[in-house]
Amino acid sequence: MTGTDGVRTDPRGIVLRGYELASHAYRGDEFALAGSRYEYWLGRFVRRLTDGARILDVGCGNGLPVARELAARFAVTGVDLSPVQIERARALVPAARFECADMTALDYAPASFDAITAFYSIINVPLPEQPSLIRRMAGWLAPGGWIIATVGQEPWTGVESDWRGVRGAQMYYSHGAAEHYRAWFAAAGLELAEQGREPRTGNPGYAMLLARRAGAEVRA
Ligand SMILES: C[S@@+](CC[C@H](N)C(=O)[O-])C[C@H]1O[C@@H](n2cnc3c(N)ncnc32)[C@H](O)[C@@H]1O
Repeated sequence: MTGTDGVRTDPRGIVLRGYELASHAYRGDEFALAGSRYEYWLGRFVRRLTDGARILDVGCGNGLPVARELAARFAVTGVDLSPVQIERARALVPAARFECADMTALDYAPASFDAITAFYSIINVPLPEQPSLIRRMAGWLAPGGWIIATVGQEPWTGVESDWRGVRGAQMYYSHGAAEHYRAWFAAAGLELAEQGREPRTGNPGYAMLLARRAGAEVRA
């Protein structure tokens, strides 16, 4: 694809190399959940789940804080494109299982999970691929299953240089508008329960969507 600078862009290569260089700059081996941007949304998400729920964490990063928090009560599978991120996640969150894979190439059976989390990860995938990714994620959910995702608030696609202050590291982002994601969720059979912004005050960089797959629950 062609980037905003008119140069051929390799989004997955940029993300892979970005985390090779800047995994630790993005997230250390410790994370204080209290008062963080994750605390509010994880709280709203987990209260809808029952103990032991099967959760897929898409773009799980190094496992902190999402997989670590969830693995205390639920059966968590984390997936990430970056071998560095997955290696760290396996060490930091031994209670979850992790797979190194491209989220757009995953092939789970229908209804494999009771819930899906995708914090700050779908937006690393080129926008034209996101509607079909959302549709496929909805299919991996059991009827009545929950999904929480960070998505774009306003359209923007581009590459950040010296990402997270690491010289030579780049990161690729591709955001649609929040209303586009709402439409894609609806088309995928995902009924929106809550929508918010992150950060919650000031510049609205991201939208948070919490939604439920239509249909009756089949698991106790
Ligand atoms: C900003 S980090 C967020 C990590 C974690 N969800 C969190 O909020 O702490 C985005 C993660 O998504 C992963 N990612 C980006 N594109 C991906 C893809 N196509 N398939 C799987 N993971 C991907 C990156 O490697 C990175 O670890």
